[in-house]
Amino acid sequence: MNPKIGVKIGRLALKNSVMVASGTFGYAEEFADFLDLKKLGAIVSKTITVKPRQGNIPPRTCEAPAGMLNSIGLENPGIDVFIEEKLPVLKKAGIPVIVSIASESGSEEFVVLAKRLDKLNEVAALELNISCPNIKSHVTRHKVTRLVSQDPRATFAVVKMVRRVTRKTLITKLSPNVTDIVEIALAAQEAGSDALALINTVQGMSIDVSTRKPKIAMIVGGLSGPAIRPIALRMVWEVYQKARIPIIGMGGIMDTESALEFFIAGASAISVGTANFVNPGVSAEIVSGVTKYLQKNKISSIKNLVGTLECKI
Ligand SMILES: Cc1cc2nc3c(=O)[nH]c(=O)nc-3n(C[C@H](O)[C@H](O)[C@H](O)COP(=O)(O)O)c2cc1C
Repeated sequence: MNPKIGVKIGRLALKNSVMVASGTFGYAEEFADFLDLKKLGAIVSKTITVKPRQGNIPPRTCEAPAGMLNSIGLENPGIDVFIEEKLPVLKKAGIPVIVSIASESGSEEFVVLAKRLDKLNEVAALELNISCPNIKSHVTRHKVTRLVSQDPRATFAVVKMVRRVTRKTLITKLSPNVTDIVEIALAAQEAGSDALALINTVQGMSIDVSTRKPKIAMIVGGLSGPAIRPIALRMVWEVYQKARIPIIGMGGIMDTESALEFFIAGASAISVGTANFVNPGVSAEIVSGVTKYLQKNKISSIKNLVGTLECKI
């Protein structure tokens, strides 16, 4: 049996449901020596803004128990250079390119970015990064201020504004740093998002006791990797109960087994992030592993695995 592993996210048909997460796969070419890029369902590019950003001061990453902390600060070349230089490189991978966008100056910037990208055939879909915890305006000396995705009204407003200017598949990426992720997910859905990506990193910090300094310069950063998998899974499962649109699940997926957990919890597709740094070929291994699991369990399509968690309660 050859199980079907393709999935539809909005209008975007992916030949398989394994993609790579924003900010963890460069512009794909760096990974071409480690895996056949065509094996992947899609690549989500590093988040871009209108103007170039140098990112935060170093150190920007450190190890954490079962994961890593990062505060890259959305380093990116800006939309002009992205379209001219980076998009052609990404296109060479031969798989759909989902472009992640963010704003450093209010919701209008999302609209500017979406309008420009809407015209380009090379762009398969847009991912709204309303959940990056590492932009300077969000992180100050003593507190981390609110992200768009920490407020259902702000989420609704941004998604609605972007929805008006693009017909491309729209994915909204949510933050786990909230009390009730379902509320935010439903706001994005009501505003016209075609899909939800969850989760972005979990805010955290780490201290070097010999110097009493924070291990990353911005003090607070985003935790990723296996440490956050149970949080991500719980959130995917909670959102799956209430949302009608597909979920792209991520957070600590390291191998086939952890990917399968997300499908069973309710994700229609999954994204591999931090694991790419540990094993650059892992996402292709997961595609094969998921296919074998479906064959072994006589499941004809990945769709039939989604949300099949068996609960006693
Ligand atoms: C170094 C690094 C850079 C990241 N950059 C972005 C980014 O630019 N945009 C974004 O939406 N998420 C970014 N993320 C978050 C990941 O896409 C993903 O949501 C998160 O790391 C959880 O998945 P993981 O545990 O598999 O890494 C970044 C994560 C890491 C580790």
